[in-house]
Amino acid sequence: MQRKPLIAGNWKMYTTAAEARELAAAVAEASKGLSDREVMIAPPYTALPVVKEVVAGSNLKLAAQNICWEEKGAFTGEISPLMLLELGCSMAIIGHSERRHIFGETDALINKRVAGAIKFGLVPVLCIGETLDEREGGRTMQVLEQQVRAGLADIVVTDPAKIVVAYEPVWAIGTGKTASEQQAQEAHHFVRDLLAKIYQKSIASQIRILYGGSVNPGNVDVLMSQEDVDGALVGGAALSAESFTRIINFK
Ligand code: 13P
Repeated sequence: MQRKPLIAGNWKMYTTAAEARELAAAVAEASKGLSDREVMIAPPYTALPVVKEVVAGSNLKLAAQNICWEEKGAFTGEISPLMLLELGCSMAIIGHSERRHIFGETDALINKRVAGAIKFGLVPVLCIGETLDEREGGRTMQVLEQQVRAGLADIVVTDPAKIVVAYEPVWAIGTGKTASEQQAQEAHHFVRDLLAKIYQKSIASQIRILYGGSVNPGNVDVLMSQEDVDGALVGGAALSAESFTRIINFK
């Protein structure tokens, strides 16, 4: 069984609902007829209702940019899995570096979010990645191991399609600096080996590992040519229908 590539657009805190409608319509149109790859978009929460309408009937997958683990309760500012399911989401980005570094989300919190997503049938996209300091200090693999082990603590995975990992080196996010294809492959291979230790090799070999960090139309093909790179998590370049269309059509 082959891992089906997944190209994901993380819109971050961009697009009003009106802007999102237009962008989502263009992406839905561009992804028509693509059957050998999956395309996902993660608009801001506030745009999910309108985007749900626009992508209905298309093969685009809808994701949230975060998720709470409780179905309801006194959790001001959080969004529950049930609310996301109602808005058509089937996936949720969790542990994005901006959540970790700007908002102080810890591995323990991220682990709860992963568990919550799975419990309600949403596919978590667990983001991991080292800072520049950590890379320069030779601690990249150590950091990735910690983030994967803690993020997936007590998470049972029996169906590899039900979880996605995204390797996003912090120094490559929004900087225009991309990990080289060798750096990406090395990290992805390490993560896959680690997943094989945590689960089974047969499961690990089927879990998709996305690369994120300044992916653009000019570098997507070479990144996607790497053995263990199963997709891309795209920020800035996902905000333009033209560049995202080129990216989802990677060769
Ligand atoms: P950029 O593609 O803008 O570097 O962002 C990457 C990212 O953070 C996707 O989640």
